[in-house]
Amino acid sequence: MYQTALKKTPLGETGLEITRVGFGAWAIGGGDWEFGWGPQDDEESIAAIHRGLEQGINWIDTAAAYGFGRSEQMVGRALQGVVERPYVFTKCSLLPGPGRIVEHSLKRDSVLREASASLERLGVDAIDLYQIHWPIPVEDIEEGWAALAELKEQGLVRHIGVSNFDVDQLRQVQQIAPVETLQPQYSLIERDIEQELLPFALEQRIGVIVYSPMGSGMLTGKMTRARIEQMSDSDWRKRDARFQEPRLSKNLDLVDRLTAVAERHDTIPGAVAVAWALRHQAVDAAIVGFRRPDQVDPILPAAGLELTDEDLIEIEGSAR
Ligand SMILES: NC(=O)c1ccc[n+]([C@@H]2O[C@H](COP(=O)([O-])OP(=O)(O)OC[C@H]3O[C@@H](n4cnc5c(N)ncnc54)[C@H](OP(=O)(O)O)[C@@H]3O)[C@@H](O)[C@H]2O)c1
Repeated sequence: MYQTALKKTPLGETGLEITRVGFGAWAIGGGDWEFGWGPQDDEESIAAIHRGLEQGINWIDTAAAYGFGRSEQMVGRALQGVVERPYVFTKCSLLPGPGRIVEHSLKRDSVLREASASLERLGVDAIDLYQIHWPIPVEDIEEGWAALAELKEQGLVRHIGVSNFDVDQLRQVQQIAPVETLQPQYSLIERDIEQELLPFALEQRIGVIVYSPMGSGMLTGKMTRARIEQMSDSDWRKRDARFQEPRLSKNLDLVDRLTAVAERHDTIPGAVAVAWALRHQAVDAAIVGFRRPDQVDPILPAAGLELTDEDLIEIEGSAR
């Protein structure tokens, strides 16, 4: 067990008490699809999940899209025989198209089919939190949201939420059923949601779990120019602007500042980046992606790390 129990927090008004760090299962979907993470060893994926659970993480965030079922299958396998099962959160609306490129659907029948396939892969009776992955196509968000509300009524999912929605889209679907949770991107290098979305979530008491708090690995302290050059072509990050100039130099400078702060707290830059995202009043918890068991422990101090004003000034100095 992690030396001090992982801090927990209520997730909005769902009644769920979740650890401030959750296990993100995108990368364990592997490389074989449009947004893959390069080669991934399934046994390492399962070992990573088990390490997270041993250390007290009590929820996993996955999606049908991650490896088009592979991530959910790994979660399902990892949960077999686990006595105290963690909460399982998953998402719908991204489907495999030709060439394993993502296609989007929020049609009722498609959402219902997806939910049943996810339940099967995960091996659970009900999904603890079911989320619309992306508000695409935008003209179908009401139909998709009504389908999630239907699944909740049937008891196949316990709570419902959305990801990547803006405030107008939230207002639109809230007329159909309350939005219990929101999953936006948030990190030192993606701060747009501070303007409108986070204040709205706070005011509406919507639970917020933020994704990519370490910029999908950019802020861990282990990302270097050499690593990026050698990245597999099946790792989506190779094509992402955050991992290329002109943003790369700025991001690596930010990692240097995170490293200085991390040293003062006897931890690593990735944990400081996660603690930074958690410092926002509207943020209940952060989803951190792990793909190997050794990656889990070094990040967990983030759940209890209180950054000082001095730390924040040093980190944010020239971050924007
Ligand atoms: N709703 C959405 O649209 C959406 C979008 C993105 C993510 N998410 C969710 O949020 C989760 C987290 O986001 P993310 O995976 O993009 O990014 P992240 O948590 O910012 O970064 C995760 C990556 O950092 C690296 N890492 C983790 N621990 C490390 C350690 N101790 N030392 C060094 N490197 C370490 C790993 O990749 P390497 O080892 O390969 O560097 C890992 O895959 C996802 O898994 C997913 O559940 C949702």
